[in-house]
Parts: sequence; structure tokens; C-alpha cells
Amino acid sequence: MQLKEQIDNLRLPKHVAVIMDGNGRWAKEKGKLRVFGHKNGVKAVRQTVESAAEIGIKVLTLYAFSTENWNRPKLEVEMLMNLLVSSLKKELKLLLKNNISLRAIGDITTLPSRTQKMLNEVIEKTKGNTHLILNLALSYSSKEEIVNAFKNISKKIVNNELSVEEIDKNIINNHLYTRNLPNVDLVIRTSGEKRISNFLLWQIAYAELYFTSVFWPDFGKEEFYKAIIDYQQRERRFGKTSEQLK
Ligand code: IPE
Ligand code: IPE
Ligand code: MG
Repeated sequence: MQLKEQIDNLRLPKHVAVIMDGNGRWAKEKGKLRVFGHKNGVKAVRQTVESAAEIGIKVLTLYAFSTENWNRPKLEVEMLMNLLVSSLKKELKLLLKNNISLRAIGDITTLPSRTQKMLNEVIEKTKGNTHLILNLALSYSSKEEIVNAFKNISKKIVNNELSVEEIDKNIINNHLYTRNLPNVDLVIRTSGEKRISNFLLWQIAYAELYFTSVFWPDFGKEEFYKAIIDYQQRERRFGKTSEQLK
């Protein structure tokens, strides 16, 4: 049986988040520059978005650039920002055809103005689409996101718009970049690294984690389906016993 047919459509994760890692090592293995790996990573993005849309995932968050990634060599950062612009331009058609709306989380204002402009244009043009939310984490840091939430909540307290007693999980959720999105059900990380790297720390409190040694440019539809099938074999107990779930 094909992998895709093994997927139970009634038990899909609502929100899948992917740490797309291993472009550099993929290129190095082939004796090429890191840039070559990033270019080929775009193909894997397309495959992943298409497969998520095909099986009916509602939200797909892709970790494309962390705040820590600003510390990479200047040329690599520039190239990544250019690649983002050209890919957004090229993929707009695919987004429109598949009824996908683009969003972004992170400190978007730190991106080069050209990148911001293209990003906002695609977000604007796809905002009415309803089949899948494609959420790009760009210049993203989970800790910074939480710091910002603290600041904004504090301001509301100082201005008497909110009391300390009112602070709860929902209030905190509502001050994160992901405020309108469901919690993450599944995190996928490629390249064999088993860490979270400052990604959605609050939002993954009860997510299932899936690690694969495949480098990101080699990740494709079949790899995505494998992760979904693995997720569906897990028992999500949320602190209860197995018997209580029956
Ligand atoms: C992921 O691949 C892409 C970004 C972080 C932008 P890497 O560039 O981190 O590749 P490795 O981990 O060095 O192989
Ligand atoms: C995480 O990958 C960030 C993205 C995939 C965008 P990194 O390659 O930057 O992660 P670390 O530094 O190895 O943890
Ligand atoms: Mg990496």
C-alpha cells in the first residue's frame, strides 16, 4: 500500500511545524557550497507544502531563518534573503492554485526591505485562501517572542487594561506571534540533530517530536507522509493513563 493511503484522514495533526535543517551538510557531502544546499532546500519546501495541502493539514509552520542565523557569514545571509524573495515570487502561483494563505512569524522588521516587501505582497494576495495556512518563521526566536509577550502584557497592566489576576494561558497565547493558530501537534526536524533550537517553545508543550536523519534537500512527499504515519501511531495521553483514553 502506498504511504499516503496509510494516513488516517480523521486523525491528522492540525498544526505541523518543521525545522528544515541540513542544507549545508547536504551540499558539503556533494563537494558543493552551502548555497547549493539552500537552493535545493527550496524544492523540499515545495514538496512539503504540496503534500500537506494534499492530505488536508490545516497549518504548516516552516522554520526558515532564526535570529541566531544572523550570525552566519554575511554572504550566506544575503543569499538566503535573496532566495526568499525569488522563491516567494515564483511560488505565488502555487499558493493561489492550492488555496493556501501565507503568513509569517518572527521579527519581520529586521529583514531587508526588499524581502519584507515581497513577503507582505504575497501575504496580502493570499490572505483570503482557506485550505492551508503556510506560516514562515523568519528571523524567529521563541525566547524573543515570549519576551515581547511579557512586554505587551505589562504595558496593558500599567495602562489598567488588564489585571495581574487575569493573566492565564489564553492571555499569554494571545500575545504570541502564533495567537490565531492552534497549538503544534507535531514537530519534524531533519538532518539528525535532536534539538529544538529556540523554536516555538511555548507552543510545543505537548507536541509529538519526530526526528529524521534525512538532510532537508532530500526531504519530500514520502518523507512527510512517513512522519504523519509515525505521529498517528503515537498515543497522546496528555498526562492521563492509557486506560482513561479508551
Ligand atoms: C538549514 O540548513 C537552513 C537554515 C538554517 C537557514 P543549515 O544551513 O543549517 O544546514 P547545516 O545544518 O549546516 O547542514
Ligand atoms: C535551526 O537550524 C534554524 C532553522 C532551521 C531555520 P540551525 O542549523 O540554525 O540550528 P542549530 O544552530 O544547529 O541548532
Ligand atoms: Mg543547521
